[in-house]
Amino acid sequence: MDLLPAKTPAALAETAASRIADLIAARPDAAVVVATGNTPLATYRVLGERVGRGDLDASRLRVFQLDEYLGLGHGDDRSLYGWMARAFLHPLGIPERNAVRLPSGAVDPDAACRAYDAAVRDAGGFDLAILGLGPNGHLGFNEPPSDRAAPTRVVTLSPESVASNAAYWGGDPARVPRQALTAGMDLLLAARHTLLLVSGAPKRAILRRALDGPPTADVPASWLHLAPKVTVVADRAALTDGAP
Ligand code: F6R
Repeated sequence: MDLLPAKTPAALAETAASRIADLIAARPDAAVVVATGNTPLATYRVLGERVGRGDLDASRLRVFQLDEYLGLGHGDDRSLYGWMARAFLHPLGIPERNAVRLPSGAVDPDAACRAYDAAVRDAGGFDLAILGLGPNGHLGFNEPPSDRAAPTRVVTLSPESVASNAAYWGGDPARVPRQALTAGMDLLLAARHTLLLVSGAPKRAILRRALDGPPTADVPASWLHLAPKVTVVADRAALTDGAP
């Protein structure tokens, strides 16, 4: 794993956006799996600005949703697809028809997971995974313990993830669905390039465990040691004791 330290969250966003833009320039129709959550938002804003200035054309990307709550009704404001559309697809000028969803309202969630796997396979696997780091080391909603071969599946959220996700929805844990769909560790670890974005002092201890290894199901992000090419972009607060 390569580590790219960034002084500030803004520097993290510029660095990560440049990496992503380089990849898009090299492969305009890259298959990209995209995290929501707070950490990548500034990166997506920088990319949107580059698209707005005409410096970047992302319109041919093939985008895959990383995870989704299970059982939300149509138009529910907690939909992670809706979040991805607002934060990534729309600002980057990517048509929604280019996106492969993990459907919250799936009648048969297991069949929906198999359909997602087939779509990833048809795309030739992920060229790029843009990931955040959960407070418990999760990637997507691959909660600990998650084996390196864990497939795309229905998961039950851990108490840590319910707590961290509550912050997205006004701080009320009751607003967080308890079940979710997640892209599998198997697909994520096969991505040809992974960018793991990590910001803030609360992530410092879990980032250390992911970076230092050994790979273990108890820290799903630590499996990234086995992935082909991983770049961790982390700000000073996430890396250094005593950082502001
Ligand atoms: C979001 C996701 C999660 C987050 C992680 C970090 O789609 O899959 O794994 O990336 O929980 O979230 P933030 O960035 O809000 O700290």
